[in-house]
Amino acid sequence: MTERAIVRHLRLAMTTPRLHPDTIEAVRERADIVDIVSQHVVLKKQGKDFVGLCPFHDDKSPSFSVSPGKQFYYCFSCGAGGNGFKFLMELNKRSFADVVLELAQRYQVPVKTLEPAQRQQLQRQLSLRQQLFEILAVTAKFYEHALRQSDGAEALAYLRQQRQLREETIQQFQLGFAPGGWQTLYGYLVEQKRYPVELVEKAGLIVPRAKGSGYYDRFRERLMIPIRDAQSRVIGFGGRAMGAAQPKYLNSPDTELFDKGKTLYGLDLARAAIAKADQAIVVEGYFDVIALHAAGISNTVAALGTALNAAQVRQLLRYSDSKQIILNFDADAAGTRAAERAIGEVTDMAYRGDVQLRILTIPEGKDPDDYLKHYSAEDYRALLEASPLWLDWQIQQSLEGRDLRQADHFQQATQAIVALLSQIANADTRTHYIRHCAEIFSHGDSRLVPLLAENLLAQVRRQRRPSRDGQGQDAMAQQPRALSALEQAEAALLRIFLHAPAFRTTVTAALDDRDLQFSFSHHRALWHYLQSLLDEPATGEDLITPLRDRIAEFSGPLSQTQYLLHLDEKTQRDILRAPLVIRAATACMEKNLCEKRYRHFLALWSNAAPHASREELAHYQQQIYAEKRRIQHLEQERQVSFADLAQLPWVGEFYNALEPSS
Ligand code: UTP
Ligand code: MN
Repeated sequence: MTERAIVRHLRLAMTTPRLHPDTIEAVRERADIVDIVSQHVVLKKQGKDFVGLCPFHDDKSPSFSVSPGKQFYYCFSCGAGGNGFKFLMELNKRSFADVVLELAQRYQVPVKTLEPAQRQQLQRQLSLRQQLFEILAVTAKFYEHALRQSDGAEALAYLRQQRQLREETIQQFQLGFAPGGWQTLYGYLVEQKRYPVELVEKAGLIVPRAKGSGYYDRFRERLMIPIRDAQSRVIGFGGRAMGAAQPKYLNSPDTELFDKGKTLYGLDLARAAIAKADQAIVVEGYFDVIALHAAGISNTVAALGTALNAAQVRQLLRYSDSKQIILNFDADAAGTRAAERAIGEVTDMAYRGDVQLRILTIPEGKDPDDYLKHYSAEDYRALLEASPLWLDWQIQQSLEGRDLRQADHFQQATQAIVALLSQIANADTRTHYIRHCAEIFSHGDSRLVPLLAENLLAQVRRQRRPSRDGQGQDAMAQQPRALSALEQAEAALLRIFLHAPAFRTTVTAALDDRDLQFSFSHHRALWHYLQSLLDEPATGEDLITPLRDRIAEFSGPLSQTQYLLHLDEKTQRDILRAPLVIRAATACMEKNLCEKRYRHFLALWSNAAPHASREELAHYQQQIYAEKRRIQHLEQERQVSFADLAQLPWVGEFYNALEPSS
């Protein structure tokens, strides 16, 4: 919808107040897009524009650009784009009027509606949230003040002595104290400050009595920790009991402003540091965040006593280009489980490689707050550095307490690991971990590694195969799938190699010339197997018979190449036109390689540090252009070869003579 269309739409909606076009215009003038977007996205200056990670999709490299000149944003990756209003509407799922009103408030633009009578309704709509923010801000001040009164003396001493917090930290986190008595805050907010009682209740600060009428304070005799949103506005509180009172921590209920599942404690203070360190640390407790910030490790946030969910992770990833998150939960048995539980929703993101998740466990079951009382910030940083990737950590967990030399333990460990590996989405990562686990299982005997790897691979493949369609595994294996261009190219070469002995040297030479390897593991396995066959003096021209026997005898990667044994009409034609097919196929394989290098250099270039040298950047650019040219050239070569194929049907006759007699 264009903005004019939106305004028209709003006019039709009876309940929505009509904003005066002057107001919309005035807001548009005052609200700068860079200002708006940078409240939500870390932006880096690049030439005239700014770039950052797109908040509208899981962005891997900064594809989101903001033009101050055009007052426009655009994502090259997902295509999201628009002006500042559109940005806030999409991001927060708010209406046009809401967004304009909020910006009007922020930039102090007086709000005019077309009919003065509607003004009040408008104010009300805007103000519920606004008033709740105000009540919470006033309350935070009240608690801060109470901490400095005689009532709060014990709490203040606790912060200074037990928690060893400096004055500066206490203020930075706006720590406070909720006095005892049942209506202390109520008296202050409702009776003294005259805030409407329903609003104070909506803010989660007072609770209606179960019997009779009236309200009582939710937080009493507790150390108060304000929870703030990314813009540092108080949206709720955590209150820690001073003695043994239960619960240890009492939190604000979810309100209009506060959604536990979407909030990260400390994010407002951590944002900049996360962007700078390119890494976010997630801990369990309020005081862990506070202690780490006090120790200068300020890229730290906490989930609020709930499992870390995908929405929270996405929030964090906005600030870290390389998508690194370190989870530091308690290390005891409960903590291990807590870590597994905590990343429940994040697991899929980790398997997909959308987040680089690391797990830090502090020795002796300490939490970061305890740890920092006995060790230095440097010690903690060393733990961060050494923290294993989540997958490695999972593998460690699967091996924990198992003696691999015992058959039953070995079996259990293998099962656990196969289950893990099967879920890794990226084939390269999967291959890497299969190899890694084979090394672990080999107990240092490197001769065993290939065999173990092949065994793991076969099991992983079996697990990965969807069984829900009820088809048997063999049926699945033989079912034709849609093959990618690369897979088709590799298959065509292997088919020629298998079925047309006369072209074997051409295939080998073409691969060597371009320095190519098969990239699909079953193709690679077949290639190596065929080479080993040819090395044997007893092998004749016929490779198909021994291969067929081999597949019948062993399962494993080779069984996936069974479909290459038979020729249909099309593949027969390919054999007949072998030289052209070889050229097209190897061009396709090389192109794939160039594309990988192209993406690699593009990532290096776009992630280069702001102070990267001119030479370094120029080098990346040259590489990028070189790869791009080569890709264009290869694409042409590939297409010309195919065009040749189409235009020269008679070549088939010519090559007929060379066909193997089988
Ligand atoms: P922990 O019980 O692990 O305590 O709670 P902690 O943070 O180490 O607390 P201290 O050091 O004894 O003060 C971790 C987090 O879980 C949530 C809080 O967010 C807390 O910081 N929690 C815990 C609650 O919400 N309610 C509770 O009763 C306990
Ligand atoms: Mn603690």
